[in-house]
Amino acid sequence: MTELAEVQQALAAHWQDRSPKEIANQLSAPLFGTAGEWDLPKGVEPKRELLYLAVGIPDAESLPKQALSDAAAAVLDKPGDLALRYGFGLGPEALRSWLAQRRSQLEGFAVDADWFQMTNGSSGAIDLIVRSLIDPGDVIISENPTYMGTLHNFRGVRADVRYVPVDDEGLNTDALADLLAQLHGEGKRIKLIYTISAFQNPTGVTLSAARRVRLLELACQYDAVVLDDEAYRELWFEQPPPQSLSAMAQGYGVITVGSFSKTVATGIRIGWIHARPEILALFGRMRFAMGQNQFGLRAFGEFLNRDEYEPHLEQVRALYQRKRDLLHEALLQAGLAQYLDWQPPGGGFYIWAKLKPGLELQALWRTAVEEGIAVNNGAGFSPGGAEEADCIRIAYAWTSADQFAEAARRLRLACDRVAAGDTTPQVG
Ligand SMILES: Cc1ncc(COP(=O)(O)O)c(C=O)c1O
Repeated sequence: MTELAEVQQALAAHWQDRSPKEIANQLSAPLFGTAGEWDLPKGVEPKRELLYLAVGIPDAESLPKQALSDAAAAVLDKPGDLALRYGFGLGPEALRSWLAQRRSQLEGFAVDADWFQMTNGSSGAIDLIVRSLIDPGDVIISENPTYMGTLHNFRGVRADVRYVPVDDEGLNTDALADLLAQLHGEGKRIKLIYTISAFQNPTGVTLSAARRVRLLELACQYDAVVLDDEAYRELWFEQPPPQSLSAMAQGYGVITVGSFSKTVATGIRIGWIHARPEILALFGRMRFAMGQNQFGLRAFGEFLNRDEYEPHLEQVRALYQRKRDLLHEALLQAGLAQYLDWQPPGGGFYIWAKLKPGLELQALWRTAVEEGIAVNNGAGFSPGGAEEADCIRIAYAWTSADQFAEAARRLRLACDRVAAGDTTPQVG
C-alpha cells in the first residue's frame, strides 16, 4: 500500500506548477486576468499612505450595526427556527411582501410578493438571469460605459455584447434604434438591453422619462427584454428619478434587479429580481443550491419590519448628498477644473470626470497612485478598455469627507505632473 506521504508528494508535484486555467472550462478561461474594479496599477509605490476614492461601498459610519445585530438576535429567538433551516423558493414571504408594498406605494403600480425573487445581491440576480436566458452568441446590448461586474457576467455566458453610448439623459435611444435596426438586419437575436437607469455606475446619469418610453417602445418592437439594474435608485438627492421602467411597462418585457448593498451594506448580500411572476418562474429552475441564506434574509426582514429602513435611508441620502457637495467643492478648490470636466451627480456614489485634452489617462491613473490617491481608471468601465477611455471615477461614498481636500490636492499634483510629462512609468 502506498503511504499517504507519498501520495501527498505526488499530488503536490502534479499540481503545484499548473495554471488553474488548465482545468477551467471554455466559459471561464477567457475571464482570467481581466481587470477588477479594485485593482491598482501594477508596480506603482504610493509616496504616502493611499487615500482610496475607488470603491462603491457605503460610508463606514453609516452602517446600522446595532439595529442589524438586534434584528439578528430577535430572529434566532423565534419559534420554529426558520432562520436556521433550509428554505427554498423565492425567499421569505414577509421580506418579499415588504418589498412589494413599498414598491407599489412608490411606483403607483400594484405588485405583490410573487413579483420578487430574493438573490445574493443584484449581481447574484444578474448572474441568475443571464444563466437562465442567454445562449452563447445571443446579443445583449449594454450602455457604454457601464458597471464592469455585469460585463463579466455577460462575458461569462459568452454573450455577444454590443454597446450604446450614454449621455446626460442616460442611454442614447437614437443610437439604440440604429443598432437594433442594424442587428435585426443581420438576423441577430437580441435578448437583453441592459441599463442602469438611475444614477448610473460610473457616469451618475439617470435615464429621462422620455427616453424610458422610447426604450420600452424599441424593446417591444425588436422583441428584446429590458434588464434594469436599480442598484442606486433609492439614493437620490434633490429629486427622485422618473417612474421605473418596470412600473411604466406594467412589468411586461422588463426584468429589474435591486439590492440593499448600496443603501445598507454590501456584505449582507441581499438583492432581488423583480419581474412578472411567470417570468420569475424561469429563474427558479436555474437555482441549484440548497436554498438561500435563511438567516441573513430573515434577520434583514426583521430589520425592515422594525421600521429601521426608512430613517436609515433618509440619513444616508443626506450624507451622500453632503459628501457629493464636499468632494465637488474640494475638486474645484484644488483647481482641477483646469484638467477635468465633471457634473455633480443627482444621486449615487460617484463623480465621473472626463480628462481634458493633453492629459493621458493611464499616466494619470499611475501618477495619482504614486501621489497617494486611488481613483478608478475609466478603462475598467469601457468595453474598448484603455483605447477608448478618457475618464476617471471618483467615489465619495466610503471615504471620509475629512480626506477630500487632501485627495483633491494630490490629484491636482498628479495632473500637474502628467501635463508636464513627469509621469510614473508603466511597469510590466
Ligand atoms: C450598477 C451595479 N450593479 C450591481 C452591483 C453589484 O451589487 P450587489 O452588491 O448588489 O451585488 C454594483 C456594485 O457596484 C453596481 O454598481
